[in-house]
Amino acid sequence: MPEPVSSVSFPPAFLWGAATSAYQIEGAVREDGRTPSIWDTFSHTPGKTAGGEHGDIAVDHYHRYRDDVALMAELGLGAYRFSISWSRVQPTGRGPAVQRGLDFYRRLVDELLAKGIKPAVTLYHWDLPQELEDAGGWPERETAYRFAEYAQIVGEALGDRVEQWITLNEPWCSAFLGYGSGVHAPGRTEPAASLRAAHHLNLAHGLGTTALRSVMPARNSVALSLNSSVVRPLSQDPADLAAARKIDDLANGVFHGPILHGLYPESLYAATEPVTDWSYVLDGDLAAINQPLDALGLNYYSPSLVSAAKPDVSGPRADGHGSSEYSPWPAADDVAFHQTPGERTEMGWTVDPTGLHELIMRYTREAPGLPLYITENGAAYDDKPDADGRVHDPERIAYLHGHLRAVRRAIADGADVRGYYLWSLLDNFEWAYGYEKRFGAVYVDYSTLERTPKSSAYWYGKAARTGTLPAVETEL
Ligand code: FCB
Repeated sequence: MPEPVSSVSFPPAFLWGAATSAYQIEGAVREDGRTPSIWDTFSHTPGKTAGGEHGDIAVDHYHRYRDDVALMAELGLGAYRFSISWSRVQPTGRGPAVQRGLDFYRRLVDELLAKGIKPAVTLYHWDLPQELEDAGGWPERETAYRFAEYAQIVGEALGDRVEQWITLNEPWCSAFLGYGSGVHAPGRTEPAASLRAAHHLNLAHGLGTTALRSVMPARNSVALSLNSSVVRPLSQDPADLAAARKIDDLANGVFHGPILHGLYPESLYAATEPVTDWSYVLDGDLAAINQPLDALGLNYYSPSLVSAAKPDVSGPRADGHGSSEYSPWPAADDVAFHQTPGERTEMGWTVDPTGLHELIMRYTREAPGLPLYITENGAAYDDKPDADGRVHDPERIAYLHGHLRAVRRAIADGADVRGYYLWSLLDNFEWAYGYEKRFGAVYVDYSTLERTPKSSAYWYGKAARTGTLPAVETEL
C-alpha cells in the first residue's frame, strides 16, 4: 500500500544536508598558492556584479570552516555539499597539485567526518582557473581534458573519505550564462561558443567520471547536478507547445541527452542549426559522455513559462530558474518567457513546489532506477535581525516546508529520492547579485562576519534530526 500523500515523515536513510560553493563562501583568494578564477576576474571587472562586489573575503569560510562545521553539527545536519576551488588545487589549471590547497579540503572533510556529517564534493561550481579561460575556456576541447586531470587529483586526495561526488554544478549556467548572455563569468556573449561550451562540459563530465572511478573505491557515488528547467507552455496552442519543446531541448536535452542516453536530441540539432554545426562532437565523444551514473543531482528553484514569441507578447527571459531579465538562449528568439503566477522570492522567482514534484517525476521516468538527490533548493528573502538580534524568516520556513512536502509526495509516488541539500547553509556571494540576496539558513553580518542561525535553520535542523517536517508555525 502506498503511504498517504499527506505523510511528512521521510525514510530513515534520507540525507538532510545544506550546500555551498567555494567562490561564494571561502574568501582567502590569494592564500596558499590560489590564483584567480574566472569569477575573480569577472567580479573585479567594473559593472559586472551588483555594487562591484566580489568574493575576496566572502564569508571567510576558509578561516572559519571549523566553526561552520560545528554550527552544522549543532543544528543537526547530516550532510554537507561543498565545492573545490580548482585554482587552489591546480593554480594554472594543469600540472601537479598544490598540497596546501588540497590540505584545506582534507581538513574540512576530517572535521565533517568527526562530527558525523557526510561530505559531498562538487568538483566544479563555475570557477574555472583564469589561465584556462585565457587559453579559450569551455568552448575549447582541451578544457575537458584538463578537468579530467583535476578530477583525478582530487579523487586521489579525498576518495578514501568522501563517498559522494558531483562532477559539475549546473553546466547550463556555465555554458549559457557564461558564454551566451554573459551575465556570469567569463562574460562572453557568443551563442556559438555557448553550445561548444555545453558539449565540452558534457565531455568533461564523462571524462571526469571515468578519471574519478579509476582512482576511487568502487563504493563511491559519482553524479552531477543539473538545473533542469521545468518548462511549461503558456497555452495548449501548437505554437506554444513547440516553443516549450524547443526550450526543453536547449535547457535540458542538451545535457541529459548525451549524459543519460548517449545522444543529442535530433530536435536540438534542428533548433541550433543557425548557430552551430556541432562539428566539434567527435567520434567517441557521446560514448565517453554517457558513463553510467550512481545518482543524479537536481537543483530546483522555480519553473519557466514560455510561449511562441508574438509581436504583442514579450516577457522576461530565462535565467535557468524561471523567468528573469537574462537572455541566454541562442537560436531561441522565437520564444517568449513569462512570469509564472504566484508569490515570489527576493530573486523574483515564483514559489511553486509543484515544479519540484514534476521535475523529480520526470527524471524518475527519464532515468529509471537512478537514485536522485535534490542538490539545491532554497530561497532568498530580505532577512534582518530584530531588536534582540534574532532573525525570523517564516517565508523561508514555508518555502522549505512546501518543497520538502513535494519531495515526500514524489517519494510516495515511487521516486527514489535519497536526500535534500538546502541552498544555502550561509548567506553568501550570490554571483552577479553580490551580497544583496540572502539565501542562507544562517544569517551573516557582513561587517563582522558573525553567523546567526535564522529560525529556518532551527526548523530545518529539527526536520533533519527527527526525519519529520515540523509544522510551519513552529518557531524554535
Ligand atoms: C544556483 C547556483 C548556486 C546559487 C543558487 C541560488 O544556480 O548553483 O550557486 O547561486 O542558484
